[in-house]
Order: sequence, then structure tokens, then C-alpha cells
Amino acid sequence: MPQRHADRSVVSRLPHRILLLAAFLGGGSWLAMADEPSPLELFEQRIVPIFKSPNPSSCVQCHLASVDLKDYILPSSRETFLSLRDQGLIDLDHPERSKILHLIAMGEQDSDALARRIHAKTRQAEYEAFAAWIRACCADPNLRSAPALEAANRAGPRVDMTVIRHNRKDRILDSFVRNIWSQRMRCFPCHTPAEIDPSNPAHEVPARRHAELVAQHGARMNIFQATPQETLRRLVANSRKPRADRLPLINVNDPLQSLLLLKPISRVPGKDAEGNLLPPSHVPPVTHGGGIKMHKNDQSYKAFVQWLQDYARGVQDGYRSAADLPADDWVPTEQVLRIAQTPVTWPAMSIVQVFVHPADQPPDSPPVAFTQGVVTPRRMFNGALFLIAPGGSDSGATPRLAPGTYRLRVFIDHQHRLDADPTALLHHAQDPDAETVITAKWEEGFKHAEVVPGSQFSTR
Ligand code: HEC
Ligand code: HEC
Repeated sequence: MPQRHADRSVVSRLPHRILLLAAFLGGGSWLAMADEPSPLELFEQRIVPIFKSPNPSSCVQCHLASVDLKDYILPSSRETFLSLRDQGLIDLDHPERSKILHLIAMGEQDSDALARRIHAKTRQAEYEAFAAWIRACCADPNLRSAPALEAANRAGPRVDMTVIRHNRKDRILDSFVRNIWSQRMRCFPCHTPAEIDPSNPAHEVPARRHAELVAQHGARMNIFQATPQETLRRLVANSRKPRADRLPLINVNDPLQSLLLLKPISRVPGKDAEGNLLPPSHVPPVTHGGGIKMHKNDQSYKAFVQWLQDYARGVQDGYRSAADLPADDWVPTEQVLRIAQTPVTWPAMSIVQVFVHPADQPPDSPPVAFTQGVVTPRRMFNGALFLIAPGGSDSGATPRLAPGTYRLRVFIDHQHRLDADPTALLHHAQDPDAETVITAKWEEGFKHAEVVPGSQFSTR
């Protein structure tokens, strides 16, 4: 138990002590004790309002969904107490050390100072309410020794612990970094003020361009802030209020209709009959002042969709068990695969996925990386690799594929599976269209793409 909680408990015990002292001085300790509110009174006055509040509890600071303080509250004081007690969340002899209080106090340990501050008031009210009520319950011999509640009647989160973990802010932020933040240089310099270096002469023109755009369109140009945390916070805050004149940046009701995704795949606004440029549209059909910066179904698009869909389903409480959770194991790299002159059996505009396997392993061994892209009219394919790293970036994997000999397996989306499910990986669903083995250096950047001639593939 961190020191902070011990300090807190002293504070929260204070009224009790003062009461006792007052009673002692007044010579009527008996009566004063009788004036201590009962567990039932405390429950009605302080816990029920938390239960009935339409607002989420302070847990939302870190748990975007899946668990809320309300989940632990039942309609009656007695049952709520027994439920907590039987789950080990109450310390009968040291009520101030009860684990439920520890969970409430968690928010104080957040490294995100702003989040800590935003939720401080709610957290403190919850803490004090629970501390007072638990203390009163623990002082009641009947409650202490009451028989256990039937397990089925206990209150608590309705989902698996794996789901609670998946919907934690730190995991969501980590996924945001891998799937969206990592792609931000495609939005340079227009939406990336923090990537513009005033001391770099090569950034002089981009800096001017960015300043002009901000003068014209306002602060909404600054989508990517200095940190992923701040970026995500602003995206979420900006998306909260429904508006008739624009889609949300993050659309939790329909993730594929998020402006963050639609703008960069949309054309510049057209012109009216007199030849004047139309204003950009923020509703379908969306247009984008920056023009097409990402192709529908390229690897960045896929990663954006992956994050948006997962985030939306998470905050809508759409996950119940581990089986519902997406793998979330894509780690972006700067390593680019280029296939020049794709075979004629890969028509222009077809969506292609390429899976990378170590050549010394059986062809059906799990891939270590993949990319996705659209064959250009000149029959070229380009895609930056995503490593497939179980456990995401926590696995300690460096986001680079080592040089070596690899088998490439190509899958073409003949059946338009990706229309219905843009994040699908085709190797689960069909046989490869083509294969080859390459010895690759896997250097970084588009300039140093690993080029493989299409003629090298053995097609089926
Ligand atoms: C500052 C962020 C933060 C806040 C606020 C927070 N939690 Fe957590 N919670 C975590 C982290 C991180 C973990 C995982 C680490 C761990 O197990 O200690 C976790 C784990 C959990 C777990 C998993 C099981 C367990 O006992 O470890 C539950 C249940 C839980 N929290 C409930 C809550 C509830 C209920 C609240 C609000 C009263 C809350 N949390 C507030 C960060 C937070
Ligand atoms: C060459 C400059 C340029 C690039 C690069 C660019 N955009 Fe834009 N973007 C604009 C301009 C100008 C606007 C304002 C006009 C509009 O709303 O279309 C805009 C608007 C937006 C908006 C609407 C913001 C709001 O709150 O109204 C989003 C979202 C967006 N862009 C996403 C992106 C993403 C994501 C990328 C990178 C993959 C990107 N853009 C690349 C120029 C650019």
C-alpha cells in the first residue's frame, strides 16, 4: 500500500476522532457515538448518488470502458458491502487499506498530470464517500460476520480481465502510436506543427506553408500535437459533440465515417459554375484541402481503420471476452517493399497483401510481417511493412525486420473481402496468388525500398 493511502486514511478518519473527542469533552460519548451515521445512512447519502449519477466514475480516467465504480454497487448497503467483502476488496481490520479504496486512489498515480487534475474532484468525492461508508460497515459486528453472498449475486465488472486490460487508456494509446501516430509524416507539414524544425533550412518552405494553412483554416490544422497523448486527447475531445455540419474526427458510431480517415483519402474540393473553388466538405462526399494523401486500402489506411474500429468498439463496451478482442499486434516500420511490373494476373487497382515469412521455415508458418497496397495503373506495388509482433510493442521487438532471406506470399482481394472488413488479413481466408523467395537488406525509407521484379513471382 503506497504511503499516500495511509496519509489519506488519517485524514478520512479525522471527523470520527473529532466526534469522539467532542463526545468525551461533553461527557456523553455514548450519545455522540449514536450520532455517527449508520452504514445505511452513509450508503443512502453518499454511495447511492454515485450509483445514480449519469456521469462515469473517476475510473474512466484510465479505463475507457469495461469497468466503472458503479459496477461494484448494488441497490442495498448490506449486499454491496458483502459483495465487496467476499471479493477481497474490503480489509475488515484496516478499512482504510481496503482494495476498493486503492482502486479509487489509482488516478493519483497517473503520469498524465492533466488527466489527474480533470478527475481529481470526482475521485476525491468517491474516495471520501467509500472510506466513510466502509469504516461504518467494518464497525458493525453483524455485517462483519454476515454469511457470504451467493457468488452469482456479487457485483463487479461484467467482462473478462483481458477485456478490462484491452480497454485501458495506456493500451489504447500504445495502439494509437503504432497505427496512427506512426503514419503522421504523410500529413507533414500541414497537420504536424511539432515536426517542423525552425532551425532546419529544409523546413523553411514547409513552415511557411503550415503557417499559411493555419491562418486560413485555424487551429484545426494542428491535428498532430507534440505527443501522441495530447494528440489523442484533442481528437477525442473534438469528436464528442455531434454536429450536423461535420462528421466527427473519430466516429465511434461508425468508425469508417471518421473524418480522420475520410479526409486524407478524399480529393481537393471542386469548383462551382463560375470557376470558384468550393469550400471543403466535412460531410459525405467529403473533400480535403490537402487532396489525396492516403489511398483507400493502402497500409496506412488499414492501420487507421484498425485503430478506429477497435477504439470505437471498446468505448461502446462492445467486447465481452478475450475471444472478441482483435490481435492488435501491428508494429510499423520504415521498411518498404516495392514490386515493379506486377504480373498481368494482378490487375491495376487490385488490393494486394504481401506476407513475409522467414525462408527457412515452412511456408505455412506464421508471417513475421505484412503490407498492403493497391496496384497502380503502371502496375507498381509499394507498401511499408508492419511487423506482426504478438504483444504489440511491449514484446520488446525493435520495429525492424532483420536483413536475410524471406519468402513473400501474395494474396489478391479477388472477392472484395476488404470492402466488408478493411482490417482483414487474407492469408487466413484464401490460398496465395503468388510466391517468391528474396534476399533482402530491408533498408529504411521509400528511396531505399526493397525492389522485387514482378517476373520473379511464381504465380498460380
Ligand atoms: C491511473 C489510472 C487508473 C485509474 C484511475 C484506475 N485504474 Fe484500474 N487499473 C489501472 C492499471 C494500470 C491497471 C493494471 C495494473 C495493475 O494490475 O495494477 C488496472 C487494473 C484494474 C483492474 C484489474 C484487476 C486488478 O485488481 O488489478 C480492475 C478491476 C480495475 N483496475 C478497476 C478500477 C476501478 C474500479 C477504478 C475506479 C474506481 C480504477 N480501476 C481506476 C489503472 C487505473
Ligand atoms: C498539403 C497539405 C495537407 C496534407 C499533407 C494533409 N492535409 Fe489534411 N487538410 C489540409 C487542409 C488545407 C485542410 C483544411 C481544409 C479541409 O477541411 O479539407 C485539411 C483538413 C483535414 C482534416 C479536417 C480537420 C478538421 O478538424 O476540420 C483532417 C481530419 C485531415 N485533414 C486529415 C489529414 C490526414 C490524416 C493527413 C495525412 C495522412 C492529411 N490530412 C494530410 C491539408 C493537408
